[in-house]
Amino acid sequence: MSFCVAIDGPAAAGKGTISRAVAAQFGLAHLDTGLLYRAVGMKDGDPVVAAQTLCTEDLARPDLRSLTAGEAASRVAVIPEVRAALLEFQRRFAAREGGAVLDGRDIGTVICPDADVKLFVTASAEVRAARRFAEAGEGSLAEVLEQVRARDARDTGRADAPLRPAEDALILDTSSLSIDEAVTRACTLIAARRDAAVR
Ligand code: DC
Repeated sequence: MSFCVAIDGPAAAGKGTISRAVAAQFGLAHLDTGLLYRAVGMKDGDPVVAAQTLCTEDLARPDLRSLTAGEAASRVAVIPEVRAALLEFQRRFAAREGGAVLDGRDIGTVICPDADVKLFVTASAEVRAARRFAEAGEGSLAEVLEQVRARDARDTGRADAPLRPAEDALILDTSSLSIDEAVTRACTLIAARRDAAVR
């Protein structure tokens, strides 16, 4: 049976950690779709061509987790032709035999509108900035908060596939949760949906 979990949310809400844990817990393949946009953003030249020719080496760059790559990703992600070039790959991944979890911004709304479970993982901008600052070790907290807010504005304000919860998404606010608590809640929600689906 192919079981698809869509996890969306703003930067540094905890999607990545939750998605990896969910993949391990339920034996699903995991795709961090933000990495695709980061790799496109960090490639030289026309971003549309970069998206159309994206290859495995582009995804292995060591600098893809940097703040610079996140910024670059958010900028190229507003280009509809970039999004279109990355769509098929993501849909094929989602349809894998054995199931998949994809995390990003538009998984539940555009890439996998029929996903078995949709989670929208969020947290306040201040909490997310503090987390990003702690893990990146770049810039100052005030700068990171400004970047988080700018990124939110760009990701939610773009015309094509803006960041928003799907109507049938379960909202998980991690502002006052530890990583372990957030993972446990996500796994409980997913297990309930999966059990209902096989019944
Ligand atoms: O999740 P992340 O921080 O790695 O994402 C970086 C940027 O990529 C994000 O600001 C917007 C873009 N993105 C997107 O538009 N759609 C996705 N499915 C994933 C990421």
